[in-house]
Amino acid sequence: MPHFLDLHLTEPADLRAMLETAKAMKAARAGRPRGTPDDSLPLAGRMVALIFEKPSTRTRVSFDAGIRQMGGQTMVLSGSELQLGHGETIADTARVLGRYVDAVMLRTFDEAVLHEMAEHAGVPVINGLTNESHPCQIMADVMTYEEHRGPIAGRKVVWSGDGNNVCTSWLHAAGQFGFDLTFTGPQTLDPPAAAVAQARAAGRRIVIERDPLAAVEGADLVVTDTWLSMHDSQSARERRHNQLRPYQVNERLMAAAKPDALFMHCLPAHRGEEVTNAVMDGPASVVFDEAENRLHAQKAILRWCLGL
Ligand code: CP
Ligand code: NVA
Repeated sequence: MPHFLDLHLTEPADLRAMLETAKAMKAARAGRPRGTPDDSLPLAGRMVALIFEKPSTRTRVSFDAGIRQMGGQTMVLSGSELQLGHGETIADTARVLGRYVDAVMLRTFDEAVLHEMAEHAGVPVINGLTNESHPCQIMADVMTYEEHRGPIAGRKVVWSGDGNNVCTSWLHAAGQFGFDLTFTGPQTLDPPAAAVAQARAAGRRIVIERDPLAAVEGADLVVTDTWLSMHDSQSARERRHNQLRPYQVNERLMAAAKPDALFMHCLPAHRGEEVTNAVMDGPASVVFDEAENRLHAQKAILRWCLGL
């Protein structure tokens, strides 16, 4: 069953094929009104359930719009509307959903829930973010980098801040797409050792550097994310802000990267915290291209999952 659960669980050739499909589908729609259907409607007659146990703007709207562009139908559900977490097992929920819909996209907390859904649904399951990873985002991000700067292979990506779910998917991507990654942030917020080891085992140079200015030297791309993720307790807010303040992406930090370095953020951004307005709105920033490319990349992911 071709699930899309994590970048390191999908063959590099398949990931590359998805990006090629995304690029072609984006080009085919250029200049057309957002709501027009695609010329070919690969998802005609198909139904996809989009399940959110956490809030979402981009993931929710881009999946919904993309499926409709491809002629499919969507059902957007919040975790609280379902019986998820109300006593029915995930396995039973998955078995039931698989009788109604052709694919499931799930945004949840524990990655184990996603895997259990995939094991029992009998239809493809797509990871729409867990506490541990966010693979759809990084597919869009790699697509965006390559649109602006050409092949990402061999480049140096710097992650500044919390070694969170998005950072983990960047590490998975380093192994699969063949680029190097430097993490800079406080030791208590290091990315998971397994993700670092995986990228290193794939032959990539993965560096942990506590000094943010030293870290961005030679960087082709600087990436950050919020200092508190949706699954983090608000009680950690003050401590995390104090720890992460030195890792803010500002003009001084960007000036220490390569002159043509890009800036990315999966959004939502907390302007003035992990990134300044000057960087968000500056010439290096491609954050809204990333957001747009969620649409194109996920359409390609769905087609791959459904074999269409
Ligand atoms: N970047 C991202 O996944 O955004 P949402 O939380 O708004 O879906
Ligand atoms: N790290 C963030 C990403 C949001 C898209 C979170 O998990 O809240």
